[in-house]
Amino acid sequence: LGQSIHYEESVESTQKIAHRLAYDQAAEGTVVVAEEQVAGRGRMDRVWHSPKYTGVWMSIILRPNIPIPKAPQLTLLAAVAVVQAIEEVTTVTPQIKWPNDILINGKKVTGILTELQAEADRINSVIIGIGINVNQQMEDYPEELRTIATSLSIESGKRINRADLIRSAFNRLEHLYELYLEKGFLPIKLLWESYAISIGKMITARTLSGSIRGRALGITEDGVLKIEDTEGIVHQVYSADIELE
Ligand code: BTN
Repeated sequence: LGQSIHYEESVESTQKIAHRLAYDQAAEGTVVVAEEQVAGRGRMDRVWHSPKYTGVWMSIILRPNIPIPKAPQLTLLAAVAVVQAIEEVTTVTPQIKWPNDILINGKKVTGILTELQAEADRINSVIIGIGINVNQQMEDYPEELRTIATSLSIESGKRINRADLIRSAFNRLEHLYELYLEKGFLPIKLLWESYAISIGKMITARTLSGSIRGRALGITEDGVLKIEDTEGIVHQVYSADIELE
């Protein structure tokens, strides 16, 4: 991975560029990295705040030969890779909140957005967008983000070298992706669960069709969250925002 790196000073969104490259047959492992995004995208149509020189904003093109329902596995794989990279480059220990938020002391330090290009029922490419808040200080955040967002620098009290972090994230991602192609999702699932905070806890999952409150049981083979509600019914949740109690 990272054999072909497109480095940009300022872009709307690295996802948008990666989509175009993937459509133009870019090789697996092609990466787009930008210093700034003026229209960074988050999950569920949200905006991702991506100011200049402070974070890691990147998108990676993968072309796995897997069925579409298994694509969420790659999001979880990317989350594990980023957690390991953060552990390698800083002294802090992050945790994962399903599906792919990385938190330190309960505040979000990384978001991952996975998008697909598919033809009929086959995956053509998976575009994994990773946003890591690295050297922002609290005063750099807009008021409404201060209680929910943080950066590696705020949490570790040091400036972090972004190139080291990117290099480490590529290495981890490459290693885990090879493991995944060789052994399947199980080893990744075990690693993911070892970093997850929500498993076994009472949570509320807000989905587009309503809320489910219950105990998070774990994830399925496909990376889908299982929640047992207060009446003992087990739900499978594909996409939601999770609130811990
Ligand atoms: C989330 O909502 O938590 C996901 C945020 C994903 C942000 C990254 S930054 C690089 C890539 N380009 C984007 O526009 N979004 C993703």
